[in-house]
Amino acid sequence: MERKALYAGSFDPVTNGHLSIIERAARLFDSLTVSVVVNPNKQGFFTLQERMEIVREVTSHIPNVTVDSFSGLLADYVNDNGFCAVVRGLRTAADFASELQMAQVNAGLYRNGTETVFLMTEPEYSYISSSVVKEVASLGGSVDALVPGYVIERIDHKLREEKKQ
Ligand code: COA
Repeated sequence: MERKALYAGSFDPVTNGHLSIIERAARLFDSLTVSVVVNPNKQGFFTLQERMEIVREVTSHIPNVTVDSFSGLLADYVNDNGFCAVVRGLRTAADFASELQMAQVNAGLYRNGTETVFLMTEPEYSYISSSVVKEVASLGGSVDALVPGYVIERIDHKLREEKKQ
């Protein structure tokens, strides 16, 4: 039976930290679906479509990764699509409390014994978040160490477009 895993997030934008988790998770499972989700509590920088395009581009070298999107409950998406695992990255101890709560809530909603699998973020990525990337870039700082080159191009383009408006 194919062992399918899901890695969901807002990926606004995808960072080197996310990419490292994606590469490592893709080695653990037969296939990995990266789902780009709009988090209503966060103000978006890239549109959903743009985020998906970007994630597709930066994961194009990993053959068993596909990129999609869903709305609604993560657990419903998992139950409807037969994922055996949901992958989460843990950066610091601060992530643990919220991740534990989310994993426990979801565990009560999964119908087929889906497991949440935590991968520890590599130390060099433990301080990265999408918000930090956006803040540094929008104030003219370098994000070369934080995101893939393609993401830098897309951020620069987006900021130029915003300035024109
Ligand atoms: N490397 C770099 N950054 C990372 C990271 C890593 N390994 N892991 C997490 N981050 C960052 C993200 O970029 C994000 O930064 P931001 O807050 O600046 O945008 C932050 O850590 C939080 O990431 P995450 O916890 O994955 O939040 P998210 O908004 O990206 O995704 C969902 C959260 C989509 C998984 C969650 O909201 C969800 O499941 N939604 C569906 C609705 C639902 O089922 N809700 C009930 C859940 S119990």
